[in-house]
Amino acid sequence: MADPTARIEELRRLLRYHSYRYHVLDDPEISDAGYDALFRELEGLESAHPDLASPDSPTQRVGAPPSDLFAEVAHRERMFSLDNAETPEQVAAWAGRLQRQLGRQPAGFACELKVDGLAVSLTYRGGRLTGAATRGDGVTGEDVTANLRTVLGVPLVLLGDDPPAVMEVRGEVYMPLAAFDALNETQAEMGERLFVNPRNAAAGAVRQKDPAVTATRRLAMWVYQVGYLEGGPAFRSHTDSLRWLRDHGLPVNPASEHVDDLDGVLHYVASAEHARHDLGYQTDGVVIKVDPLADQSELGFTSKSPRWAIAYKFPPEEQTTRLIGIEVNVGRTGAVTPFAVLEPVFVGGATVTNATLHNQDEVARKDLRIGDTVIVRRAGDVIPEVVGPVASLRTGAEQTWKMPRKCPFCGNPITRAEGEAVARCTGGFDCPSRLREYLAHFAGRGGMDIEGLGYKTIHLLLSEGLVTDPSGIFRLRPEDLLGFEGWGEVSVGNLMTAIDAARDRPLGRLLTALGIPLVGGTVARTLARRFLSMERIMDAAEEDLGAIDGIGPEIVASIRSWASDPGNRALIGRLAQAGVRLGDPQPEGVDRSVLAGVTVVITGTLDGFTREGARSAVEDRGGKVAGSVSRKTTAVVVGESPGSKAVRAQELGVPILDEAAFSRLLAEGAGFLEQA
Ligand code: IVH
Repeated sequence: MADPTARIEELRRLLRYHSYRYHVLDDPEISDAGYDALFRELEGLESAHPDLASPDSPTQRVGAPPSDLFAEVAHRERMFSLDNAETPEQVAAWAGRLQRQLGRQPAGFACELKVDGLAVSLTYRGGRLTGAATRGDGVTGEDVTANLRTVLGVPLVLLGDDPPAVMEVRGEVYMPLAAFDALNETQAEMGERLFVNPRNAAAGAVRQKDPAVTATRRLAMWVYQVGYLEGGPAFRSHTDSLRWLRDHGLPVNPASEHVDDLDGVLHYVASAEHARHDLGYQTDGVVIKVDPLADQSELGFTSKSPRWAIAYKFPPEEQTTRLIGIEVNVGRTGAVTPFAVLEPVFVGGATVTNATLHNQDEVARKDLRIGDTVIVRRAGDVIPEVVGPVASLRTGAEQTWKMPRKCPFCGNPITRAEGEAVARCTGGFDCPSRLREYLAHFAGRGGMDIEGLGYKTIHLLLSEGLVTDPSGIFRLRPEDLLGFEGWGEVSVGNLMTAIDAARDRPLGRLLTALGIPLVGGTVARTLARRFLSMERIMDAAEEDLGAIDGIGPEIVASIRSWASDPGNRALIGRLAQAGVRLGDPQPEGVDRSVLAGVTVVITGTLDGFTREGARSAVEDRGGKVAGSVSRKTTAVVVGESPGSKAVRAQELGVPILDEAAFSRLLAEGAGFLEQA
C-alpha cells in the first residue's frame, strides 16, 4: 500500500481549507456530505496508522478531558473593557475628545458589531493553537483550551506558511440563535431548566467540565483584536490586522468596516441597529475603534479601558419590572392561555404591560409568582416575553398561580386533557371570548379575508347581538349597522360588498377559516382539491383521507372528530343557508396528475400569474410548491426581481425556469427538463 503520510497531510489540509470556507468565509465549496466523506477517510487512515496521529488534526477537536481545564492563566497583555456610549451625542463627544488629544481627527475608524457572548483569548505558537483563556478579571482568566478546541470556527492551525512566533488574539465566543433554540428545545424535552439567553448558554458551554459536551453546544466565535504579537507582521491599522487574521483562517465578522469619519460611524451604528435582528446571533451594540495603530498608541489607555475605543450600546431589549398578576385569554379553539400583567415598562422601544405565558406548564417551569420582579424581553417585532423571575429579589410575599377552574368569560368549566399542554374552555361559542377570536380568525386574512371586518367591528357585532356564530356574518343586513357610530351608507356598503365577495371564496379558504385543528392553509387546499366539496370532506372515510399525500393520521383523526360533531355540522348547514358556497368547480382541461411528484419553488413576480394563481396552477396538477430550494426541488421558477432562491438554485444545480418554461411545465409535466 502507498505511503499514507502524504494522503493524511493532504486530507488535513483540505479539511482545514473547507472548514475555513464554511465557518469563516461563509462560502462553502463542497457539500456537507463531501466534507464528511473526507473527514471519514482521514479518521480511517489515522486509526489504521496511530503513529501518524497529530493533536492538530481536524479529527482531534474533542480530546480526553485534560487536567488543566479552568486552571488560572495570566494574560500576557491585560484584557481591557470598554467605555460605553448610549447616544449618538455621546459618540460625538468621544470623537471630540480624540480630536483634542491628537490635535486632529484620527485617520478613520474601524466599526464592529458588539456580539453578546463572552470574551476569550486564543494563543497560537508557530501557527498552532496552544491556549485559550476566559477574560476573568482582565489580568488572569481560566484555561479553557480543551473547550475552545471544540468550536468549529476556531482553527487549530493557522492558514498560510508565515505563522508568527507567538500571537494572541481576542474575540467573542457566542451561541448562534439556531443553536440556542435547539439547545432549549432539548432541555425542555428532558425536563431540564431552560437557558434564559444565548449569552448565558454560551458561558455555560465554555465552562463545561467535559469538552465533549461543549462540542454539542455548537458555539461560534468572532475574533476582533490582536492582543499580543511576537515575530509577526507589522500592522499599520486595526483593519489591516483584521484582514490578516481572516486571511489566516480566523473568524472575523464580515460586518466589520472601516469608515472615514464620525458621520461614517453614526451611519454604521444606525444601520447595525436596524439589521440587528437579521443576523442569527445577538448583538448589543457597536464597538468603534480608532483605526491607525499609531493613533491608538498616541491615545493610550485609562486605568480601565483604551481611550481609542468605545462601545455604543443599543437600547436594552431586556428590563426588569413587577409581575402584578396572571390572567387568562380564551382563544379561537377554546385554548386558555395565561398572560402576565406587568407594571408598565419601556423596553425594546415600546411600553409593555402584558406578555403571553403560553400555558400552565410554562408558568410552572419558569417558576413565576405573582409579585415577582421579572425580566421582560422585547426584541424587534417579536412579541414581548417574560424571561423569568429574579429569584434573589423575592420577599416571601409572592404568590403562586393556579389555572382558574371556571372560564372568566362564560363561567363554563376549564378542563385539561391527559397529556395535553393546553387547558380549554368548555363553553364553545357560548364563550364570548372564544367567539370573538374565532370570528376574527374566520374573517381574517388567512381565512375568508373579509375586508373591513376586524376586531373593532366584530366587537360591535357581538355586543349588539347581531352575530352569534360565523354564519351570522352572511345574514347581516345594511339596516343592522346603519346608524351606529362610524357606520354610514358608504362604510356599510363597502362591508356588505366584502361579505358578498366572501360567499364565493374557494373551498380551501373556507376550510382554513373554519379553524379545524391541524388543518392550515396547505392541508385545506389539498383537501379541497381532492374532494371539491364540503359535504364530501365531512363524509370522507378515514381510509380516503389517510391515502392523501401530506395528510397523516393525526390530521385524519382531527378532521373526523370535527366532522362528526353535531355543532359543526349544524354550522355548515347555517353557512349554506346564508348563501356561502361550499364547494369548488371541477377545473376544466387540466391534467390533474401531470405534476405528480414535482416540487417547484417560485421567486420573483410573474406576468401572467399572481403568487396564489401560480401555486394553484401547480397544485391543481398534483405538484407541490415549496418555500425554499433544496436538492429535492424539481425546478425554480424565476420571475422579475428574484430573491436569493435563484442563486441557491444555481449553487445546487436545480433547473431554473422563466415564465415561458413554467407554462410548458404546467402543460407537459417535468419530462422536458431532462432533455434540456
Ligand atoms: S474590543 C481593548 N470588540 O465587549 C479592546 N470587544 O466591554 C477591548 N465585545 O469584554 C474589546 N464585541 O467581551 C471588542 N468587536 C468587539 C467586541 C467586544 C464584543 C465585548 C468583549 C469585551 C466587552 C468590552
